[in-house]
Amino acid sequence: MTRILVTGASGLLGLNFALRYHADHQVSGVVHRNPLNNPPFQQIVADLSDAETLQAVLDQSEPEVVLHCAALANVDECEHDPQRAYQVNVALPAGLARLAARHGFRLVHLSTDAVFDGQRGDYTEEDTPNPLSVYARTKWQAEQQVLETCPQALVARVNFYGWSLSGQRSLGEFFYYNLKQGRAVKGFTDVIFCPLEATQLADLLLRLVEKGAAGLYHVVSSECQSKYAFGVSIARRFGLDESLIEPVSVMEGGLVARRSPNLRLRTDKLAAALGEPPPGQAAALDRFYQLFLAGYPQQIRSLADGRVA
Ligand SMILES: NC(=O)c1ccc[n+]([C@@H]2O[C@H](COP(=O)([O-])OP(=O)(O)OC[C@H]3O[C@@H](n4cnc5c(N)ncnc54)[C@H](OP(=O)(O)O)[C@@H]3O)[C@@H](O)[C@H]2O)c1
Repeated sequence: MTRILVTGASGLLGLNFALRYHADHQVSGVVHRNPLNNPPFQQIVADLSDAETLQAVLDQSEPEVVLHCAALANVDECEHDPQRAYQVNVALPAGLARLAARHGFRLVHLSTDAVFDGQRGDYTEEDTPNPLSVYARTKWQAEQQVLETCPQALVARVNFYGWSLSGQRSLGEFFYYNLKQGRAVKGFTDVIFCPLEATQLADLLLRLVEKGAAGLYHVVSSECQSKYAFGVSIARRFGLDESLIEPVSVMEGGLVARRSPNLRLRTDKLAAALGEPPPGQAAALDRFYQLFLAGYPQQIRSLADGRVA
């Protein structure tokens, strides 16, 4: 039983992790604007961008491991409010890293595949990022500050989908719920990514912690596909109408922040640490589908107290 503090426990990854591991470990979860209704783990409501509050939360929970999922992860919101993006995505993890170095807890910090500009693809952990958006710039800054301050930290560049509190946090949910309602959607044919399912990602992160992995890791699927192909695979798995997905270029998407086209990340370092490659796309989708069959989306959404933004 490890004492694990999960920040961002109302978010997509944090909530999936906390729900999956609260029975095996002593999990506390920090939420901010979206408190949970009777979660099966200890809940702490706090604004962690305040340094004193952060210290108080750590004093209260005395974690052995901190899984830091809290972030301003909405790419377009970061573009509109760069100051808040810096506060939450850089200053907060940098503060956590200082505390980890001082107190000795294991810090797992979440970063993103979007630190790369996506011009080339096939990126390793040795390649130099070139972020295109405020969000991506803050995430890259945080990676560097965390590892400079606390080299024992694990920094994971990720991409994932899953079932969330609001039902709106992931691309998997976007395709499922829109197609289920018979609504036409666009799918980008020129954006390539390698997503894992959120509970799979939770499993891999815990395995890396148990193996004592430190430094920068790409923790994504071993296989990649376009966002359009991803949408089609969701439609097929759930028996929905794939013709509702219009294949388009990301240039036609009307998005605020620039997106990187080819985010194929290499996972050789991860595979070496785990002793096997990470899951492929079929396994990720199967996990998403099996959770759906087990009523997991409803279980998660029952934790929302009606104030989900
Ligand atoms: N989703 C993806 O595909 C993806 C891809 C690449 C990287 N990532 C990274 O993975 C991590 C987890 O992402 P996610 O998608 O799970 O995020 P998310 O669903 O957007 O959740 C963000 C979480 O951060 C919390 N938070 C924000 N500001 C806070 C503050 N000032 N104090 C305390 N908590 C605060 C939110 O709490 P409230 O909601 O309660 O306010 C929420 O629980 C992030 O670092 C993100 O950058 C995600």
